Order: sequence, then structure tokens, then C-alpha cells
Amino acid sequence: MTTLEKTAVFLEEAQTYYLATVEGDQPRVRPFGTVLIWEGKLFLQTGKCKPVSRQLAQNPKAELCAFSGGQWVRVAGTLAEDPRREIKTAMLDKMPQLRGMYGEDDGNMQMLYFTQAEVTFSSFTAPPETAPLYE
Ligand SMILES: Cc1cc2nc3c(=O)[nH]c(=O)nc-3n(C[C@H](O)[C@H](O)[C@H](O)COP(=O)(O)O)c2cc1C
Repeated sequence: MTTLEKTAVFLEEAQTYYLATVEGDQPRVRPFGTVLIWEGKLFLQTGKCKPVSRQLAQNPKAELCAFSGGQWVRVAGTLAEDPRREIKTAMLDKMPQLRGMYGEDDGNMQMLYFTQAEVTFSSFTAPPETAPLYE
């Protein structure tokens, strides 16, 4: 498995990860659950009306963390928007429950992907393993 695949599988198994952004000199963090691989990139989904989206527009640096099965992963990098409709459709098809809140043409749904990132898998029993998200 590539680091990208391993990361996506881990996040899906964990179900919830915590996405940190920066607002001025204040870190902000919240639970997220959306994960999608599209054209070899790791995507997540949010709403443009949320503070998290506004923070990323100001400063695209982000880090996420999830814990599952005695291991935790951190993905630290930069997020960018991809506005293509087909990516929104792929996300809504993967998680149909999102359709209650979002739609491809609602002017709010936003797909963000890591342009580059460093992934670290850690546990209490083995040394941390760090790799680029993309080969
Ligand atoms: C388990 C869980 C998963 C969530 N997944 C997402 C998600 O993938 N995208 C999203 O925009 N909000 C998601 N939320 C809601 C956000 O955590 C919530 O809207 C939060 O307030 C957004 O951060 P902000 O207020 O700093 O913008 C999720 C909430 C929970 C409890």
C-alpha cells in the first residue's frame, strides 16, 4: 500500500479525525470525518460558510490527527480547494448522508485536498514512521 492509501484506510477505520487550522496565532481544531482519494490526492469536505473554511482561505496550513487501534496518524501540510463538480459528486456518493446538508450546486460545499503533506504514524510500541503523503 502507498502512504496515501495507508493514510486513507487509517482515517476511514478511525472514522473521526481532528483537523487543526490556524487563526492568527490561535490554533483551531474540530472533528472531521470526510475522506476521499481523487486523482491521487487526499480530499476532505467542508462548507464555505464555516470558520474552518475561512481560516484555510487565510492560511492554508493544516494538520489532522486520528487515533485507532493503538496507533495514531498525523498529516501535516497545505490544503487547497478543487472546485470541480465531479469531486463533490464522488464525495456525496461515498457518504450519501451528506446530501442532507450539502449539494453539488449549493454554493457552500467545498472540497479541499492536501497539495503536499508529511504523514507520521506513531504508537507507544514502535518508533514513529514519517513519509511524504505522495510518492
Ligand atoms: C464525528 C464528526 C465528524 C465531522 N465531520 C465533518 C467533516 O468532514 N466536514 C465538516 O465540515 N464538518 C464536520 N463535522 C462538523 C464540524 O466539526 C463542525 O461543523 C465544526 O464546528 C467546524 O469547525 P469550525 O466551527 O471551526 O468551522 C463533523 C463533526 C463530527 C462530530
